[in-house]
Order: sequence, then C-alpha cells, then structure tokens
Amino acid sequence: MNASAHSHWPYGVHPFPHRHLTGIAGLKAHEITFLLDEAEHWVAINRAQTKHDNRLASLTQINAFFENSTRTLLSFEIAGKRLGADVVNMMVAQSSVKKGETLIDTAVTLNAMRADVIVIRHDASGAVGLIADKVDCPVLNAGDGRHEHPTQALLDALTIRRRKGGIAGLKVAICGDVLHSRVARSNIICLGTLGAEVRVVAPPTLVPPAIDRMGVACFTDLDAGLEGADVVMMLRLQRERMAGGFVPSEREYHAFWGLTHERLARAQPDALVMHPGPMNRGVEITSAVADDIDRSAITEQVEVGVAVRMACLDVLTRARRGVEGWA
Ligand code: CP
Repeated sequence: MNASAHSHWPYGVHPFPHRHLTGIAGLKAHEITFLLDEAEHWVAINRAQTKHDNRLASLTQINAFFENSTRTLLSFEIAGKRLGADVVNMMVAQSSVKKGETLIDTAVTLNAMRADVIVIRHDASGAVGLIADKVDCPVLNAGDGRHEHPTQALLDALTIRRRKGGIAGLKVAICGDVLHSRVARSNIICLGTLGAEVRVVAPPTLVPPAIDRMGVACFTDLDAGLEGADVVMMLRLQRERMAGGFVPSEREYHAFWGLTHERLARAQPDALVMHPGPMNRGVEITSAVADDIDRSAITEQVEVGVAVRMACLDVLTRARRGVEGWA
C-alpha cells in the first residue's frame, strides 16, 4: 500500500469501501485521492524496465467491451497482465450477443465462468450498474453510454495533479460536446469533489439540460469560457451519439469551437491542454495545439491511464485476495 495515501484518510475510515467502480458519483474526496495515490506508485513501476507484479496471479479478468475502444481496452489489458492476472477479452462481434442474448444472460454467463473481476464498456447508460448487481465479483465501468467513465476521470485528475501539483482551486474548462460525453460528466463530479472550479463551455445545442444541477458555470462562447482557465479539456464531437443536427457542419464547428493557439491565449499562459481521445484533429482541436509538447498533456493522459487501471484492479480485488483490512 502506498504510504502517502494514509495522510488523506479520516481516522478509522476504510480507504475504499466499495465493491465496484461503476462511477465517480458517490465517491468521497479521500476515496478518489486514495486511488490517485495508489496509481502514482504504478506510474513509477511502469517507467521501470521490469513492470511486472504478480499480485493478481490466478485471478481471471474479463474485459467485455460492447463498444469500440483503443485506449481503455488496451490499458485495462496491459494493466491486468502487468499485475499477473489471466486476462480475457470478450469479442462482442463474435459473441452470442450478436445472436440476441440479453445483457443479463451475458452477465450470468460471465459469472458462471467464475471471473474474479469484470471490466465492461456498453453503449447504454446504466448497463454496467445492471451487470454489477448480477455478478459475484467486482465490476469496473469502462464507459457506459452518456453516464460515466470513471477511470478516465481518475486518469485526468492524476494528470492534472502531477502537472499542476494539486487540483483544489484550479479553473478547469470542459469544452465541446458536453451533452453526449460521459467523460465530461465523470470529470465534473471528480474534479468538483476535489475542489476544482469547473466550467462547461459548449454550443447551446450541446449543453445537457440539467447542467445547473451539477454545480458548474456554463458558457456558450468558447472565447469567454477559456478566459483565465488553468486546464482546458477538449471533447470529441460524438457524431455516433447524435440522432439529429446538433451542429451545422464540422467545418463550421471548428470555426467557432475548435481550439487553436490564438484561442488558447485567453487561458492562463501555462494552461494545460487535455483531450480524452480519440481526437478529431481539425474539428475540436488543431494538430498544432494537440502536438504542442509545452501545452498538451494528451500523451501523458494515456500513460497514466495504465497506472490508474492497475490501481483500480488492485484495490477492487483486495477483498477477494484476502488482503488484510479489506472485507
Ligand atoms: N478515452 C477513451 O475512452 O478512449 P477509447 O474510446 O479509445 O477507449
């Protein structure tokens, strides 16, 4: 266990009393900080030549991705393998889901194979929570519909903490297609819980209707929303979740909502640029900004993502492994 984590726990409180990680909602600040501290340990290990640790040996990790993924699937696979787990990726395109098997029947099937931890991505909001209720092992949400993407928020928080030395008091602008973004939702909750001043910046058609209930300021003009920001998080225009004309055209969207160096000049001179990926270069962000090594933390986000997933897999399987103090 990482010694630095102890300083954040209220005395006598379990550092992470949750069986699953289905979202950031419901987590306390010290629980989020605990996961970030644990992940910090794995960042260092991942930079060493020997990256293996066998603590998940003999455990079976099933990654069931019902939606496409590059970063999240690969980093959960690498994370599980570095921890010594037997990692199996369920190929949904070749599975019985394609023959009409229900989500619940799929969950019961995975459970019958005695998985020790299941990682799920699904296009339906709430699907991961539904599966978590049906299985005997910990479940990690790798993104469900527009609902949550908790490990993305944790890796974003860790990236900010490493670059800025802390999170409380920072002005974070989350910009673009907030309406369709589970990343935005998890980050609003995560960074807000850790004391950041979060604002969303989006065209009126891409602002979620209940945004005022999330405790964030809302701007419908990119230049105004970037003013004084310490962190600028750009979001992908999620065409696959759009059933109608939310934006006139990608070219027009870029003209008003694309992050360029000129626009970035409104933020703090040392403002950090982030993007969860995959990026639409030339739409929500120019290549010049995305590849600017002085400003962009996009590659670092991917790097610490493996560490965050190692921490989550380790922490959530502790009770199963009989680690002392983890019931
Ligand atoms: N950020 C993210 O979830 O990327 P993938 O869709 O590639 O997993």
